[in-house]
Amino acid sequence: MISPALILFSSFLCHVAVAGRTCPRPDDVPFATVTPLRSSYDPGEQITYFCKPGYMSRGGMRRFTCPLTGIWPINTLRCTPRVCPFAGILENGAVRYTTFEYPNTISFSCNNGFFLNGTKSAQCTEEGIWSPNLPVCSPVTCPPPPTPKFAVLSAYEPLARNRSVYGKQAVFKCLPNYTMFGNDTATCTAHGNWTELPECREVKCPFPIRPDNGFVNYPAKEALSYKDKATYGCHDTYVLDGPEEVECNKFGNWSAQPSCKASCKVSVKKATVIFEGERVKIQEKFKNGMLHGQKVSFFCKNKEKKCSYTEDAQCIDGTFEVPSCFKEHSSLAFWKTDAWDVKPC
Ligand SMILES: *[C@@H]1O[C@H](CO)[C@@H](O)[C@H](O)[C@H]1NC(C)=O
Ligand SMILES: *[C@@H]1O[C@H](CO)[C@@H](O)[C@H](O)[C@H]1NC(C)=O
Ligand SMILES: *[C@@H]1O[C@H](CO)[C@@H](O)[C@H](O)[C@H]1NC(C)=O
Ligand SMILES: *[C@@H]1O[C@H](CO)[C@@H](O)[C@H](O)[C@H]1NC(C)=O
Ligand SMILES: *[C@@H]1O[C@H](CO)[C@@H](O)[C@H](O)[C@H]1NC(C)=O
Ligand SMILES: *[C@@H]1O[C@H](CO)[C@@H](O)[C@H](O)[C@H]1NC(C)=O
Repeated sequence: MISPALILFSSFLCHVAVAGRTCPRPDDVPFATVTPLRSSYDPGEQITYFCKPGYMSRGGMRRFTCPLTGIWPINTLRCTPRVCPFAGILENGAVRYTTFEYPNTISFSCNNGFFLNGTKSAQCTEEGIWSPNLPVCSPVTCPPPPTPKFAVLSAYEPLARNRSVYGKQAVFKCLPNYTMFGNDTATCTAHGNWTELPECREVKCPFPIRPDNGFVNYPAKEALSYKDKATYGCHDTYVLDGPEEVECNKFGNWSAQPSCKASCKVSVKKATVIFEGERVKIQEKFKNGMLHGQKVSFFCKNKEKKCSYTEDAQCIDGTFEVPSCFKEHSSLAFWKTDAWDVKPC
């Protein structure tokens, strides 16, 4: 049997024990602080969790009272980072990021032809905004191109404030009687300058000199300039050495200086030779002479081996030398075999 006094006594003991139980240091919650923070609390004392700057509370209570049991209630508080506005797209550029959460940093770059107008990187702040402000990619522009001497702009479409956007072109023309050196088109580069500009120069060629034994025709003008043409020709038996038409080039020179070369008399009375791959009778083929530059091959005899070989001869400005190995027989020496009838070596 239990006496009422014992019950009373034990309930008193129990009360004392409960009243004496303290709460321990509260659990840490990531990114949160506790106030006041101590290593123990008496029952009835209050603590408050605060999310650290840049973090927001989610789920659960923030304020707790140390209970008589000395055990803190289950704490479901979680502090999550603030999220800055979406900043994953930069027109004409690119954004590098992992997340848009505090305290991350994102960085920016622009495509070719655009420059970063603003900051290179921005951080998501405690307040959940980007700092500094997000940049934009603005197009690279070029100032008006300088106009080269003796040139005019023939095509140019500037934008506002006379500036051109990257990739736009300006086309130049030379004044009359001036010749262009370089590319007529300049392009606004991604560096904001122009590609190389052309140059305009006056080009004059000297009057062509009439060749000996020939003639030259050219436009009847005060001066001959770039791209003017002259044509050459030769009298009767003379042959033009060089092109018939020449042109005044950018350097004030003619593309060529043709001359007239004499043809050759053939002194050999009778011989079969090779001309342009075929056997011909020299006395017939060249009875009016050989033209400058023409070439034939004579047959010569190798006496020991009793065979024939060939040697070349060419008409050069009136001179034609018959190879010394070639032997012309007298028309009376009919018993002798001509070299061209002997088997080749
Ligand atoms: C830079 O950006 C600002 C605002 O976006 C704009 O007003 C300004 O014209 C830009 N600067 C250039 C040089 O494009
Ligand atoms: C733009 O260029 C034109 C002709 O080159 C000139 O007359 C005009 O004053 C320029 N405008 C500005 C804003 O510079
Ligand atoms: C160009 O040259 C020609 C002669 O070659 C001359 O008659 C003409 O006047 C010149 N033009 C100019 C604009 O200088
Ligand atoms: C001149 O330059 C333009 C671009 O700037 C290029 O497309 C073109 O091929 C060039 N012309 C010559 C003849 O080099
Ligand atoms: C344009 O600017 C870039 C960079 O400053 C330079 O390397 C280049 O030589 C310049 N081009 C011309 C044609 O001046
Ligand atoms: C013209 O050509 C000649 C020979 O072909 C050369 O010696 C001379 O330097 C050239 N002149 C120019 C201006 O290029």
